[in-house]
Amino acid sequence: MLQIIDKLLKDVENFKAENKEQVEDFRLKFLSKKGEISKVFEEFRNVPNEQKKEFGQKINMLKQSALAKFEALQNNLGNNDNDENGNIDLSLPGTPVELGSHHPLSIVRNEIIDIFSRIGFTVAEGPEVEDDWHVFSSLNFPPEHPARDMQDTFFIEKNPDILLRTHTSSVQTRVMEHTQPPIRSIFPGRVFRNEAISARAHCVFHQIEGLYVDTNVSFADLKQTLLYFAKEMFGTSTQIRLRPSYFPFTEPSAEMDISCSICGGKGCAVCKGTGWLEILGCGMVDPNVLKNCNIDADKYTGFAFGMGVERIAMLKYQVKDIRLFFKNDTRFIKQFEAAK
Ligand code: PHE
Repeated sequence: MLQIIDKLLKDVENFKAENKEQVEDFRLKFLSKKGEISKVFEEFRNVPNEQKKEFGQKINMLKQSALAKFEALQNNLGNNDNDENGNIDLSLPGTPVELGSHHPLSIVRNEIIDIFSRIGFTVAEGPEVEDDWHVFSSLNFPPEHPARDMQDTFFIEKNPDILLRTHTSSVQTRVMEHTQPPIRSIFPGRVFRNEAISARAHCVFHQIEGLYVDTNVSFADLKQTLLYFAKEMFGTSTQIRLRPSYFPFTEPSAEMDISCSICGGKGCAVCKGTGWLEILGCGMVDPNVLKNCNIDADKYTGFAFGMGVERIAMLKYQVKDIRLFFKNDTRFIKQFEAAK
């Protein structure tokens, strides 16, 4: 009987099936109630007790390998798009490839880069993990300035001189340290602030900084550049207004509002009845900053501006909660490609 089992094992192993009928033949021959393996199990009753263990193991092995073979034969057929004559069925549907989409923040960032590149601005980047010099000191922040407080800035515990940049203005210094004017660049990047997360604020967000340094750069140049940007971004009927403000690294400084694109300036819930929406900070580069970067402040002047990408995207697409940008829910993210 051991010989029979061995022979069956070999037969199972060598069995070849090229179509469904042959796989069924295999099942009938080996696995069905009247099949070879059932016969062996019947024989098993007559095996003397002291040999039962050895035989039992053998028969079980045979059964397992027949089951495995049956499954393999079925799978082989399943994965095979050929018909019985070996022809490929070209009309079968393909495996669909799902298309991804750009994140709304990428779409807005690329659009801003595009708008400024058309008037000669190049793109530069700087590190997210920065030192005090590039984020604060070089930019004229006095030592006691509240932005240097633990409350606002993420410091690296082991070395309080190293921190996560709180704005992309650090790239101004990075660029000016190794480039002499004319400089005309924008700096997109991620920034970090120790803020409670809410519908309007996040501890990680994106900014785009602009810097223009050359001879005779004036506040009028700044204003015209930003008006051009606002019209390109939000439509040609968009108006801007500049309100005096303060930043340590610009003098004079201003905040820019655009006329509310929802109500056209009449006043609505989005602009809280004012007709205006604040979108960026800007000003003339403080001569102290130029000096800190070894640029001749008597010869050169410049302007700088910085805007939040999330804020622009929220205004452009009427997104009411900044947290949606970071949830990566594809139902949200996929909506913007077409709206572009
Ligand atoms: N860095 C400023 C901020 O994060 C924005 C700014 C950039 C203001 C450049 C003036 C000039 O709020």
